Amino acid sequence: MSDIRWPVRPAGGAAGRCRPGSPRSVRYRAVSRYFITTPIYYVKDAPHVGHAYTTVNADALARWHRLIGDEVFFLTGTDEHGQKVARAAEEQGVSPTQWTDQLAPRFAAAWADLDISNDDFIRTSEPRHHVAVQRFLGRIYDNGWIVKDTYRGLYCVACEQYYAADELLDDTLCPIHRLPVEHLEEENYFFRLSAFEQPLIDWYESAPGAVVPESKRNEALSFIKGGLRDISITRTSIDWGVTVPWDDDHVFYVWYDALINYVTAIGYGEDEQRFEEWWPAVHHLIGKEILRFHCVWWPAMCMAAGIDPPAHVQVHGWLLLGGEKMSNSSVNQITPGDLIAEFGVDPIRYHLLRDTPLGSDGDFSSEGITSRYNADLANNLGNLLSRVATVVGSKCGGTGPRPAPDSRLAGVATAVVAEASEAWNAGQPQQALEATWRLIRETNAELEVAEPWKADPGPGVDSTLGSALEVLRIVSILIVPAMPATAREIWARIGLEGSPSDQRLPAAGSWGGYPGGQVTKGVPLFPRRKA
Ligand code: MSP
Repeated sequence: MSDIRWPVRPAGGAAGRCRPGSPRSVRYRAVSRYFITTPIYYVKDAPHVGHAYTTVNADALARWHRLIGDEVFFLTGTDEHGQKVARAAEEQGVSPTQWTDQLAPRFAAAWADLDISNDDFIRTSEPRHHVAVQRFLGRIYDNGWIVKDTYRGLYCVACEQYYAADELLDDTLCPIHRLPVEHLEEENYFFRLSAFEQPLIDWYESAPGAVVPESKRNEALSFIKGGLRDISITRTSIDWGVTVPWDDDHVFYVWYDALINYVTAIGYGEDEQRFEEWWPAVHHLIGKEILRFHCVWWPAMCMAAGIDPPAHVQVHGWLLLGGEKMSNSSVNQITPGDLIAEFGVDPIRYHLLRDTPLGSDGDFSSEGITSRYNADLANNLGNLLSRVATVVGSKCGGTGPRPAPDSRLAGVATAVVAEASEAWNAGQPQQALEATWRLIRETNAELEVAEPWKADPGPGVDSTLGSALEVLRIVSILIVPAMPATAREIWARIGLEGSPSDQRLPAAGSWGGYPGGQVTKGVPLFPRRKA
């Protein structure tokens, strides 16, 4: 059996996220890679808004990092093995392959409809994944961390995990799905997770920011300190999975294969150079119910395979509908398509990013979307664009003037760009958007005081309108991560060339960049909705 060696890479290794201000940023400024992942979704049913919540947040973070010049790799995909999916297929009278081939494209299509900019879409049924899993787990087996034993336990098929008796509700129900658990007894292979208790504690202590928010880090750490049991990682009861390379009567347990998707996609065991470039500088965005898998199992699996644990895991809360988690196993699902049809893509993206801070639970309701839409999009952003375009038309012949260097708004914009950047860098879209809307509100307030629509054309009107146009330029860059299509539309209407997503912050956020241009009024971006 090999020793547990961690950290695997000597300090200051090649890969690493370079944060401005960190000591590593000085030495490794050239390597600014940002690898962001969503969990891969079970293809049990069509995607719902709970899935969209994770995916839109990950997309916004990916787009933000592109905007600050990072090289980004954004991965999402589908988790296709295991009993949950096999049973869903059986219920439909089709094979798991037919079922997953039918469902996986629905996830890809939902993400395309939501303007998700993923660089790859991995399906765990793909040969590239089977090869990577067999190599990764083969390595763990060779290192002596996988052994054969008999397991008896209480299993929830919906969660695809075993529970201890004291974790159940009313002694029989799974605590998440409230469905009866099943007694399973299997001879299978075990991962010696218990051996990783101390290495995991050491890892948590040496990397205090690896799991955020802190409450979730503490939860994972106290789970580890409470003692870890070895985990059963193979099944003989089903054959829908990745075959164990050293014993083909077994397939790997779905969670054990799923986690490896994160390294499959960056070339694990296939393209070592690519893998080294992207690992371990990863940012896993996950829901709170899968904390143990990502913050206990996965780092231990990485150590067992001889690679570094993931650099960041960010844990978010749930979207609740009537106080319940929206899920496939309940009747309360709403599809992203329903919402897009009703509100449009960018308003939904904005709502998902703006109304539930990452880390907290949030209530999802049609009234909530409408009131946010009216307050922020119709009355503020849409109104600012339309009134500026109208007055530029009537007072400046449609040509947008240049901004005033000494406008009060210059100071507000500088502060907002800094605050929003900090929030995006910290993985907090809600705070970033809140800051951005402060700039929009202040600009509307400034216009109400100056009333350029009542004044005679001249330098006063020009400087007021030029500054408002400059705010619109800066705002369209700042909203690229949240509302990419709206950002492009505003950019074009104020007469700018190219695309706001091609701008690079912080340079493009400095006051004074609006060169003047042909301003187009167009139809209202966000017509007010009935409450
Ligand atoms: N397949 C596993 C993940 C494997 S990752 C190696 C899984 N899939 S899932 O489809 O059940 O859920 C995936 C993610 O969807 C959850 O972690 C969570 O991020 C998100 N959500 C599902 N329902 C949600 C809400 N109601 N609210 C917020 N996010 C939700 O777990």
